[in-house]
Amino acid sequence: MSGLHTSSDHMETSSVLDKMSGEGDVGQDDKSILPIISLHDVELSLGHGRSRVDILRGIDLEITRGDSVGLVGPSGSGKSTLLMVMAGLEQADKGQVLVEKADMSIMGEDELARFRGRHIGIIFQSFHLVPTMTALENVAIPLELAGRDDAFSRAEEELTAVGLGHRLHHYPAEMSGGEQQRVAIARALAPRPSILIADEPTGNLDTETGREIADLMFDIQKRRGMTLMLVTHDPKLADRCAHVVRLRKGQLVELDKEA
Ligand SMILES: Nc1ncnc2c1ncn2[C@@H]1O[C@H](COP(=O)(O)OP(=O)(O)O)[C@@H](O)[C@H]1O
Ligand SMILES: [Mg+2]
Repeated sequence: MSGLHTSSDHMETSSVLDKMSGEGDVGQDDKSILPIISLHDVELSLGHGRSRVDILRGIDLEITRGDSVGLVGPSGSGKSTLLMVMAGLEQADKGQVLVEKADMSIMGEDELARFRGRHIGIIFQSFHLVPTMTALENVAIPLELAGRDDAFSRAEEELTAVGLGHRLHHYPAEMSGGEQQRVAIARALAPRPSILIADEPTGNLDTETGREIADLMFDIQKRRGMTLMLVTHDPKLADRCAHVVRLRKGQLVELDKEA
């Protein structure tokens, strides 16, 4: 069975949720067979007055734990907006967003921030590092703010895992684009989230460096059993994901992968 369900699967009868019915209570042990991310009929319009645009027009998506999903679509089609909704950074106008079984649409801002900090790591095209902090501080300070007393040792461990054990005390301006993106990946992964959301993570990198960053991302995703949602313009990169979906006219369609 496919690990992904989109609006285009309306005819499919054996959804993940259907399989749950009649099997008694859903306890902790069943966590692994419930979708880790599930969006139902999500709608969102942005802007005001005549510039108002309907960006998401009924998004249905279910992602199985440990799966990888590539999201493609033309520029301006709402890919980043959809990621923001999944990360609870943007509130949907309508519909339901469940992540790790929690309903993000009913959380307050503080609760959302804590939830995101625990479960979701995000990386962007532009690395968003703090220029006045070293690589180590960029990874450790958010951990420290989240209340971890092993922030610096954990940060060193994560930076070593992305191949930057020798760059701990460098500032962003002293590092290449690829190295800065590695720092951003280490920062995203340091809280050990179950979900990694990546918005054009190789968009600012040359082809070779982009491939190295993609290799690193998929390698860590597999080793840690994480769920990956990846937005990219690059069909080859999207194709490295188990599933590829396209955002078209505000809805998602799953694309057939070439065997
Ligand atoms: N805050 C906003 N107000 C109004 N329109 C917005 C806002 N943010 C994004 N948009 C518009 O929403 C559409 C989708 O944007 P985006 O999600 O960034 O697309 P993509 O990531 O696919 O390029 C674009 O037309 C963009 O101009
Ligand atoms: Mg975008």
